[in-house]
Amino acid sequence: MTEPNQTRFNQEAANWDSNPSVVLATELAVRSYLPFCSPSFDILDLGCGTGLLSLLLAPHVRSVTAVDSASGMIDVLTAKLSPSGSHANIKNVLPVCALLEDPNDPRLQVDPLTKATLETGTPARRFDLVVSHLVLHHIPDLAAVFKTIYGLLKPGGKVAVTDFEDFGPEARRFHPESKMDGVERHGIKREDIQKIMEEAGFQGVTVETAFELPKRVESEPGKGDIETGPTNVFPFLICSGTKS
Ligand SMILES: C[S@@+](CC[C@H](N)C(=O)[O-])C[C@H]1O[C@@H](n2cnc3c(N)ncnc32)[C@H](O)[C@@H]1O
Repeated sequence: MTEPNQTRFNQEAANWDSNPSVVLATELAVRSYLPFCSPSFDILDLGCGTGLLSLLLAPHVRSVTAVDSASGMIDVLTAKLSPSGSHANIKNVLPVCALLEDPNDPRLQVDPLTKATLETGTPARRFDLVVSHLVLHHIPDLAAVFKTIYGLLKPGGKVAVTDFEDFGPEARRFHPESKMDGVERHGIKREDIQKIMEEAGFQGVTVETAFELPKRVESEPGKGDIETGPTNVFPFLICSGTKS
């Protein structure tokens, strides 16, 4: 992740959950992720932000390792999980501040349930499922991130990621013009993502429409009136595959 991206997300962290379209997008996405979950699964949420998705999936899995490179985002999630926080009852989520590029990143070597650091020499933790929501459009090198995800999985483990689709020039309107810093692409293209995931080694790759998000946009690009602008509908894709 680039420097402007981290600065942007640190600044946005405190108010992240007050953006209604972010919250709605997560609520819609959860329905797509639940069929991939199982009570015995250790999952990793890549680019977890303030943990909106992680906290909704936590009751359906054994543990969630919630990773984000923006410390501001991880601070908000940590506060939610603290004894006086809004989600103090959730004990199986481990927030990790890391720009995840290495499946053997030592910051992942913590047991989410006990919070104990695993002994030196313990094999690197591997996951049953990696999820990631609204992150891919910020990632400069998609091939590299899918190789990292592949490395993070157990044999037979699955990846399931959601983001808005690049369905043509109108996809650019997902973000107001003032928030294009760190936007690497205006959504994901079906054929591109399928190819990237297959080249990373995933089997049985599927790329499907998951849901449609109604979202306010600027009345004209750059007008700065997103709060009163018209509502456009943005298709979201769910992209999944299995590590053989
Ligand atoms: C648009 S936000 C989405 C946050 C959250 N998934 C949600 O839907 O509310 C994208 C997040 O991905 C994080 N991110 C991007 N690339 C990352 C990487 N390689 N490792 C960890 N976090 C990353 C950013 O810091 C940011 O918080």
